[in-house]
Amino acid sequence: MRAGRSHGLLAFAAALHVPGGAAQDRWCGKAYQAGSPLVIPGGRLEPPDLSPRPLLDLKIIPRHSIYLASDEGAEFIVDAAISYVHGSTWPSSDSTAQEQQSGALNVTITWKNQTLAKGTVMPNTTDNIFPIDLKSLEPRMDGYPIDLAVTSHTNNSTFSAATELFLLPEKTTGSVVKIDNLYGSLLYRNPTTNGIFVPVFPYGFYGDYSGYFNKSASNVEKYASQGYNVVNVVSSFADDDMSATIETMDRLNLFLQYDMRGSYKNLSSVAWQMPLVKDHPSLLTWYTADEPDGWQDPLDAPKQAYDLIASLDRYHPTALVLNCQNYYFEEYSSGADIIMEDAYPVGINATYSWKWGTACNETFGDCGCDNCEGTLLDVPDRVDDFYDYGAWLGGTATRKPVWAVPQAFSIPEDYWAREPTPDEAWVMDLLAFNHGAKARLAWIYPASVELDTALSSLAKVVTTSPVMNFLTGANPVLLQDGKHGGLDVAYWKMGDQVLVSVVAPGESVANAEIPLPGDLQLSRVGSTPWGEISWTLDGTTLRAEGGLPSLATSLLILQ
Ligand SMILES: *[C@@H]1O[C@H](CO)[C@@H](O)[C@H](O)[C@H]1NC(C)=O
Ligand SMILES: *[C@@H]1O[C@H](CO)[C@@H](O)[C@H](O)[C@H]1NC(C)=O
Ligand SMILES: *[C@@H]1O[C@H](CO)[C@@H](O)[C@H](O)[C@H]1NC(C)=O
Ligand SMILES: *[C@@H]1O[C@H](CO)[C@@H](O)[C@H](O)[C@H]1NC(C)=O
Ligand SMILES: *[C@@H]1O[C@H](CO)[C@@H](O)[C@H](O)[C@H]1NC(C)=O
Ligand SMILES: *[C@@H]1O[C@H](CO)[C@@H](O)[C@H](O)[C@H]1NC(C)=O
Ligand SMILES: *[C@@H]1O[C@H](CO)[C@@H](O)[C@H](O)[C@H]1NC(C)=O
Ligand SMILES: *[C@@H]1O[C@H](CO)[C@@H](O)[C@H](O)[C@H]1NC(C)=O
Ligand SMILES: *[C@@H]1O[C@H](CO)[C@@H](O)[C@H](O)[C@H]1NC(C)=O
Repeated sequence: MRAGRSHGLLAFAAALHVPGGAAQDRWCGKAYQAGSPLVIPGGRLEPPDLSPRPLLDLKIIPRHSIYLASDEGAEFIVDAAISYVHGSTWPSSDSTAQEQQSGALNVTITWKNQTLAKGTVMPNTTDNIFPIDLKSLEPRMDGYPIDLAVTSHTNNSTFSAATELFLLPEKTTGSVVKIDNLYGSLLYRNPTTNGIFVPVFPYGFYGDYSGYFNKSASNVEKYASQGYNVVNVVSSFADDDMSATIETMDRLNLFLQYDMRGSYKNLSSVAWQMPLVKDHPSLLTWYTADEPDGWQDPLDAPKQAYDLIASLDRYHPTALVLNCQNYYFEEYSSGADIIMEDAYPVGINATYSWKWGTACNETFGDCGCDNCEGTLLDVPDRVDDFYDYGAWLGGTATRKPVWAVPQAFSIPEDYWAREPTPDEAWVMDLLAFNHGAKARLAWIYPASVELDTALSSLAKVVTTSPVMNFLTGANPVLLQDGKHGGLDVAYWKMGDQVLVSVVAPGESVANAEIPLPGDLQLSRVGSTPWGEISWTLDGTTLRAEGGLPSLATSLLILQ
C-alpha cells in the first residue's frame, strides 16, 4: 500500500514515496490528474492464443523449493496436462485416449546421466509425485539441473522438460523456510520446531514501526497474543536499528516479513542489510517492492533484487506486492517467489476519484483500487487474476503462490471513506482463501479496536489446527464462485475429512443448500470452527438452518 499521502499514522513511510518524479504523474501507467493527456498504459498481459491442436504441457518442479542435507528424500511434481495453450504438439487428439488405454507415459528423471527416478504418468494428469533418494547428491549452494524425459507408448514420441533442484548445506542458525510447491504453502524450521519442518499459514498485518512495534516489547507481545503469527514491520535497517524489535519477535516466535521497500533498488544496501536479518529464527520471508507497478519502478528492479537475495540467502523465499490489476505483471512478478495482491475495495468510488476530480476507467484515473468494482468480490477477483496470469505465463509461474493484503486501515484515506466492518473483513479473508490465497497480511496494524478484536478471533482459528492443516495441506476446490451471485464456497480435502468454507458476499440467502460432490463420501458435520451458522449434511447436500444472512462466513469440517 502506498503510504505517506496524507496523515500522521503513515507518515513514517512518507519519505520513501515523495510525489514529484516523472513516474509519479501516473499510477499503474495511467494519468490520473485532471487535464492530463490520455496515455494508454500498456504492459497488459493478455490470454495466450489457443493452439488448434492439443499440446502436452509437460512440467517438472521439486516438491519443495529447497531441500537440506538433513532431508532424507525429496520429491518431484510432474504435470502432463493436455493443454491448448502451452506445450509440445501431442501426436493426435486420439492419443490421449490411446495412452490411457495402453497404460501411461514412461518417465525418467535424471541429473546429468544419473537416473534419479523412473515411472509412469497418465496423460492429462497433474501433481504426479516422484520420490527420490538424496543420498547420491552432495549438498551445495548451486542448483542441480534436472531433466525429465517422457516417452509415449503408442507413438515413439519423446517429450522433455527441465527444472532445478536445490539441495543446500545444513543451516545451523535461525530459520529455514520452504515453499511446498504442491500446495503453495510454507514450511518452516527454527529452534522451536525440534529440527523438523512444520507448516505455517501466515495471518497478520503490515505494522507501523515507529508508532507501534518499536515503541515497546509489550506492543509486540500484545500483537502476538492476539493470535497473529506474522508481521511485515514497515521499516528496515536502512531506516533504523531494528534489532530490539526483531529479537522480541525471535523470543515470541512471531514471524517477520522483512521489508526493504525503501531500499530494494539499492543493491549494496540490500547486501548490507541481509546479514543483519538472515539468521534470525523469526525470519519468514524477504519483501522487496511495495507496489512497484503502481509507482512504475524499473521493470527489472525486483528481479535484480531477487537474484541478489537468492545469491546471499537461499533459505528464505522472497515476496512483493502488486497493486495494479494488469500492468507489467510478467516483469514485476519474475522478481519474487510469492506475489501479493492489495485490492482495497471498501468505501471507494470505483468510477469517480474524489481526490483528483476525474472519472476512472481502464486507461485513465486513480480511484484507489485499480479496475475494481468497489465490492468485496474485488479481492477474490484479484487473487484469481494473478493465478490466471501465472497460468498464462506457464512453467513455474503456474504454481507461484498468491497472498492477500486485505484492507484494515482505520483512518479514512483519500480514496477510502471508511474502514471495513468486522463482517466485511472476515468476508474478504475467507473469499481470498477460497480462491487460493496462501497467507494474508492486512494493511495496517494497529487497526481499530473493533477490527483488531474481530480479526484476532479469526487469526486464532486459521493459524491453528485443525483449520491450518487444511489451508496448508491441500488446495481449495472452488464449488461456487461468488462472482456469479450467491454464495462463494470452497473445500479442502485431507484424508477422509473436508474443510468447507462458505461466504455470503452479497445478499442474504434464504434457503442455503450446497450440493457437494458425491465422491467426497461424507457422512456428517464434525465441527464448525468458525461462524454462527448451524449446518446439517443430508446425503450430499449441506443445508444451513435458517439460511445465511448477508456477509455470513462459515468454516466447517465434514467427515
Ligand atoms: C506418431 O507420430 C508421428 C510423427 O510425429 C505422427 O505422424 C503419427 O500420426 C503419430 N501416430 C499416432 C498414433 O499418434
Ligand atoms: C556418464 O556416466 C559415465 C559412466 O557411468 C561417466 O563416465 C561419464 O562421465 C558420465 N557423463 C557425464 C556427463 O556425467
Ligand atoms: C483432460 O482433463 C480435463 C479435466 O479433467 C478434461 O476436461 C479433458 O476432457 C481431458 N482431455 C483429454 C484430451 O482427455
Ligand atoms: C516403458 O517402460 C517399460 C518398462 O521399463 C518398457 O518395457 C517399455 O519399452 C517402455 N516404453 C517406451 C515407449 O519407452
Ligand atoms: C522407437 O524408437 C526406438 C529408439 O529410437 C526404435 O528402436 C524403435 O524402433 C522405435 N519404435 C517404433 C515403433 O517406432
Ligand atoms: C526506536 O526505538 C529506539 C529506542 O527507544 C529509539 O531510540 C529510536 O529513535 C526509535 N526509532 C524510530 C524510527 O522510532
Ligand atoms: C545505497 O546503499 C549504500 C549502503 O547502505 C549507501 O552507502 C548508499 O548511500 C546508498 N545509495 C543511495 C543512492 O541511496
Ligand atoms: C461515484 O461518484 C459519482 C460522481 O460523484 C456519483 O455519481 C456516483 O454515485 C458515485 N458512486 C458511488 C458508488 O458512490
Ligand atoms: C477513460 O477516460 C478518459 C478520460 O476521460 C478518456 O479519454 C478515455 O477514452 C476513457 N477510456 C475508456 C477505455 O473508456
